[in-house]
Amino acid sequence: MPHKKQKLAQFEARVVQLINEWHRLAYTYVDADLRIAQISPNFPSELTDADLTRPGISLGEAFGEFVGMEDVLHDILRGERSLFQIERVNRIQADGSIRYLSFRVVPLDVQKPSAGLLVIVEDVTSSGLIEHSLVQNRNELRFVQDALAHANADLDKRVEQRTAELAEAKQQIEKQLVRMQALRLNDLAILGTTDLRVALKTIADQTRKHLRMDVVSVLLFNPYSLRFENAVVAGAQTSEIQSAWIRMGETVIGRAAFERQTLIFPDVSQEPQLELVGKSEGFLSCFALPLIAKGKIVGVMYLGHRSIFQPNQDWLDFLESLAGQAAMAIESIKAFEDLQRSNFELALAYSRTIEGWSRALDLRDMQTKDHTSRVTELTLKLAHLVGMNEIEIMHVKHGALLHDIGKMGIPDAILLKDDYLSDEEWEIMRRHPAYAYEMLSPVEYLRPALDIPYCHHEKWDGTGYPRGLAGEQIPLAARLFAVVDVWDALRSNRPYRKGWNEDQVREYIRSQSGTHFDPYAVDLFLRLLDEMDKEQMDQRAV
Ligand code: C2E
Ligand code: SIN
Ligand code: SIN
Ligand code: FE
Repeated sequence: MPHKKQKLAQFEARVVQLINEWHRLAYTYVDADLRIAQISPNFPSELTDADLTRPGISLGEAFGEFVGMEDVLHDILRGERSLFQIERVNRIQADGSIRYLSFRVVPLDVQKPSAGLLVIVEDVTSSGLIEHSLVQNRNELRFVQDALAHANADLDKRVEQRTAELAEAKQQIEKQLVRMQALRLNDLAILGTTDLRVALKTIADQTRKHLRMDVVSVLLFNPYSLRFENAVVAGAQTSEIQSAWIRMGETVIGRAAFERQTLIFPDVSQEPQLELVGKSEGFLSCFALPLIAKGKIVGVMYLGHRSIFQPNQDWLDFLESLAGQAAMAIESIKAFEDLQRSNFELALAYSRTIEGWSRALDLRDMQTKDHTSRVTELTLKLAHLVGMNEIEIMHVKHGALLHDIGKMGIPDAILLKDDYLSDEEWEIMRRHPAYAYEMLSPVEYLRPALDIPYCHHEKWDGTGYPRGLAGEQIPLAARLFAVVDVWDALRSNRPYRKGWNEDQVREYIRSQSGTHFDPYAVDLFLRLLDEMDKEQMDQRAV
């Protein structure tokens, strides 16, 4: 048995040792006076700064945590309490690291508690650190939450700011929109009119309204007088700008053109040297922009304000756009006017040429000038009666004047023959309408006038020449003209026959209605002759 007992003691000692190692337990025995009587073997010296081997050292001296806890400890010694714990107190070590300790105090002999106390010291640093890091994490979490809350507040502020920015941007866009509408309006004014002053007035009004200027004027450069002259002015109260007559390089207006740059005077009182235009208007600020089209100075846009005005870039940019439109208006409308003038001059030149050809033909044909002008006049009357428009009538006139232009290609021997034509001669004579077509069709301006020269020998029943057209295949102008031409030819003397009398001619014309001639053209022509006769008789009667 003693052997067994010894073995058990050995076993217990081993368990105690392992528990001690694994749990880092240390323990002391404290007597009834609360002084340390004994410490466990290998008591870790780092658990206390005190020297536990010193005799008579009190528990409070060894572990400060027990100072003031004497009453509780005496309760255990009296058997009134069986356990006292102090959980996880931290100690800063000499090397700065933290160590966590837990204390448990129990009676050494449960049967006789007054004998003394067993104090078990446990190093719980590893679990303490976890706890600590949890706290730390919690703190960090709180920090993060705070930061988030802060960030949220910041975000709110930025959203607010962004909203304000957006509102500002929207306002800007609306402003731009209004400005673009103004520019569009100007474009329409430029496109919609051929009157330069109307277009420039629109631009000046828009400029005055959108740039909030008191007076806006556009001056045109006159390349003959080499002066700038007012074209339009909006908002003026005096005639000073209206009557401005300014040399290149002189005054603020002439300088802007000469220097080819925008001149800006926000406060003219700061510019004693400035040759201001608009003193009588009371301008305190003024702006002059050269109007340049295709590299040439065409004018100046001049703006005046009756108070000091410092423009921003935005304002100046818009002003540049408006000035660009004014320059474009001047350029494009002037180009249009030039084109119109040259078109008119060309038309006049053509008309003179046609009359010249017509006269040359009459001379060669040995006809009197009267024949051509008479048939032309009567044909134009018929053209009016059938309701042709101005342009068609112009072509009818040209066509009538040139109706026998093809005879230019007929040799004198045939054209001027004083006898009836042989079959060969007649064959050549019949070519004159085709010659007219060859002569006139390459001239674009005369192509619409070809109906009469090319088709005046066609017949309603299809037996005419050169193509044998019938009925309404024959152009109306040619159907009308054919009646007038035969009427005039028959009344005239020819080298090979005498002229017919008026009644014979009218009778012949009437007889050819529906065969040679369009019946409608015959009716119209005979009615016209009757009316002209009546007018003549009325005149004689007067
Ligand atoms: P023109 O003398 O100016 O005659 C124009 C048209 O009036 C003629 O076209 C014809 O439709 C009509 N006409 C003229 N004279 C007479 C006539 O005595 N009797 C009748 N029934 N109709 C007449 P057309 O026939 O195609 O002749 C075209 C042109 O040819 C004439 O223009 C004339 O310059 C020339 N021509 C026609 N016949 C003769 C002719 O016998 N001798 C000469 N030398 N020239 C002629
Ligand atoms: C003329 O110059 O004789 C009139 C021009 C025209 O025929 O339109
Ligand atoms: C024309 O003038 O071109 C002819 C029109 C018609 O045949 O009535
Ligand atoms: Fe003819």
